[in-house]
Order: sequence, then structure tokens, then C-alpha cells
Amino acid sequence: SIIPVIAIDGPSGSGKGTIASLLARHLGWSLLDSGAIYRLVALAAEYHQIPLDQEAKLSELAAGLDVRFIPATEQSPANILLEGQSVTDCIRTEQVGAGASKVAALPQVRAALLQRQRDFRQTPGLIADGRDMGTVVFPDAPLKIFLTASAEERARRRYLQLKDKSPDVTLTSLLGEINARDARDTQRAIAPLVAAPDALSLDSTSLSIDQVLKYILDAAIQRN
Ligand code: C5P
Repeated sequence: SIIPVIAIDGPSGSGKGTIASLLARHLGWSLLDSGAIYRLVALAAEYHQIPLDQEAKLSELAAGLDVRFIPATEQSPANILLEGQSVTDCIRTEQVGAGASKVAALPQVRAALLQRQRDFRQTPGLIADGRDMGTVVFPDAPLKIFLTASAEERARRRYLQLKDKSPDVTLTSLLGEINARDARDTQRAIAPLVAAPDALSLDSTSLSIDQVLKYILDAAIQRN
């Protein structure tokens, strides 16, 4: 395909999600939040009471997943519908994130979701956010970014996001969860979190959102 893709991969809390949606708005490109798709599979499994180790049933569920991604507009934020119901906020809990990382370790589930992800590649371009965008889903992406940050900084960012909504979260418990999820995502046999050989690595620990955006936009211009 000649439709451009900017693949942004990295661990949870590296700022990928924020950066990807800002870039998509800025460029007027489509946005693929692939983590949301794994989160939706985990949530749908809970609704349908499918245990998270039943690979065949989960891949069937993933293949037939009834979801709609409604992009943000000037008037309203992005919205995600699962089986017709808005689940935009409830897929963001740590519990659903942990479930997502379990279903994401199942090869048949990943295979069932591959084409659905590739279908987001539409003109004039796509910003793809995930763990394996540059390695597996869009290996031909002209620009690949591997965005990282220290685990402590990622826990701190997550804490600031969550503390008003969930007063019982602590920095220590978040750091523990982030380390556990990193370990699962980097050590799994299939599509582990790893930088593509041709990715540009960027450590955002001490960078502002604007600095990261500028770095990626400059790199996009240079690759053209
Ligand atoms: O990015 P996010 O935290 O929403 O992703 C949730 C989980 O989905 C991750 O911990 C990871 O296990 C899985 N995931 C994946 N491949 C992707 C995106 C997410 O395995 N491309």
C-alpha cells in the first residue's frame, strides 16, 4: 500500500496514546488505537463470560467483535461502542488492561484481529498506536517510532491521570502493575514488545508532549 502510516510502538504509559491522537488530529489522518481493540476483546469476554485462557472461543469472539470507533470532532471527544454501547471509559481500567494483555498473548486472537487493524489504513494516512504496529501489522510503514519512558515516570503520569477518578490508587501499586504488564508484553512468544530494526527510538522521560510531537513531525518530513 502507498498510503502512509506512522507506527508508534512502546510500553504502556510512554505517552503513545496522547501523541498518536494529537498527531492524527494535526495531520487529519485516521487513528488506530490497537490497544483499545485488545481491551475490547477482554471486556467482551467478561460480558460473555468467556475465561481468558479459552483461545478458540476468544478468537471467535475477536473475529466477530461488534465495535465502532467514532473519531473525535471539534464538538465531542472520541467514542468507542461495543455491541452498540459506549465503553469509552470502562475499557481504560487497570483490570481491563490486565485482561487485554492476557488475551493479547494468544496467537489466534492476534491473527483474528490482524485484518481489522490493517483496514484502518485509509487516505490520506494513518497513525497506528500499539506494541507491534511497526513489526507485524504495518511492517512497510515508512516511519516507525519506538517511544519509551522510565517505569517510574510512566507510573507517575498514570497516577496523575487516575488520582481524581480512583482515590485509592497509589504510585507504588501502579509501578507494580506497569512492571508486571511490561514483563508480560516483552516476554511473550508472539509479537512481543520490541522496536522494529528500522524504528527511531525516543525516550520521553524528560520531554514534553510538544517536544515529542515536534520530533515525530520533523522525522516525518525527513522521510518524505
Ligand atoms: O496500549 P494499551 O495499554 O491500551 O494496551 C493494552 C494491552 O494490549 C497491552 O498491555 C498489550 O498486552 C496489548 N496490546 C498488544 N498489541 C498491541 C496493542 C496492545 O499486544 N498492538
